[in-house]
Amino acid sequence: MKFIVKALGGLVLLVVVVVVVVLGVGTRNLSRSYDVPPHAVSLDGADTGEGQRLATLFACTLCHGGELGGSDFLQGMPMADLPAPNLTGRRFSVLEMERAVRHGVAADGRPLMIMPSQAFSGMSDEDLADLVAYVFSIPDVSTRLIERRVGPIGRLAAAMAPAELITASAVHHEAEHPVATPEGDGLYLTGLCRFCHGEDLGGRMFTADVPMWAPNLTPHPTGIGGWTLDRFRVAVQEGRTSDGREIDPDHMPWSAFAAYTDAELQTVWDHLNALTPIDRPPPLE
Ligand code: HEC
Ligand code: HEC
Repeated sequence: MKFIVKALGGLVLLVVVVVVVVLGVGTRNLSRSYDVPPHAVSLDGADTGEGQRLATLFACTLCHGGELGGSDFLQGMPMADLPAPNLTGRRFSVLEMERAVRHGVAADGRPLMIMPSQAFSGMSDEDLADLVAYVFSIPDVSTRLIERRVGPIGRLAAAMAPAELITASAVHHEAEHPVATPEGDGLYLTGLCRFCHGEDLGGRMFTADVPMWAPNLTPHPTGIGGWTLDRFRVAVQEGRTSDGREIDPDHMPWSAFAAYTDAELQTVWDHLNALTPIDRPPPLE
């Protein structure tokens, strides 16, 4: 009996120690400072109309609000209360916008949570200039947002799955920035798709508020193998499946992808069809 009590006491102590250590790791991951070399981008000749399209296409408007005035993005204690900040009124300089968008690093050097920068790190200087010029053109709006707080579950997640939560840890900060082409680059244009459908685009459980299967997008019968471009376009840009069901815009941001040009959609389609087919059906319910 004494032995069991002792053993249990030891176990409790062990659990406490593990939790404290893991929380410490999470806190360290969240407050680590990223030293990103400043990268100047000139706004000369930037196209604000194109910037507005990019803000839709890259879902800035979905998270930061339609007018980019900020939103109470996540109210989820004990995970976190996380506002997506107000981008209007030139609150962030060109250099700060570059660091946030392409590197996932805040003005003060700490990593941004959830902001999907690994999907934007392949953005060309041209696209970035258009985007920033558009953001700078929006009149200042003042919004009252929730206060940023990270709870214990958020710290645990930052220790266990840092790349999911702290995208700066998944970005190659020294990478060269690509040059824009009219038809776009498939890897870059599918950056956001990878965020949810998995790095290999073979499908995975994606957890927003509830876990949901983000299906296989590789050219396999369990994915888009056998699909026509038209079926793909209707799903990705109009949010309808082949049996006429509306795809939930809160889980699959097709309203953003409606902003693709035909040439870009073709590039995405060709990119997906050139992937190695992966046999990954949805998990059984
Ligand atoms: C999935 C949601 C999401 C998308 C998409 C998104 N953001 Fe964010 N963004 C956030 C959140 C959440 C934060 C705050 C993170 C934090 O405080 O840790 C943030 C922070 C920022 C910051 C603040 C940097 C700082 O210094 O504090 C800027 C600037 C920014 N985002 C710009 C953009 C732009 C431009 C786009 C589109 C290319 C974009 N974001 C797309 C969620 C998003
Ligand atoms: C925020 C997460 C998220 C992002 C970003 C995302 N998807 Fe999805 N996608 C999902 C989820 C979840 C589903 C399943 C939705 C459903 O069944 O209602 C889905 C469904 C789909 C479907 C299947 C529709 C059907 O007919 O069954 C296609 C095709 C698709 N996504 C393509 C894309 C492409 C291409 C991109 C990038 C351009 C992308 N998705 C980006 C989460 C996402």
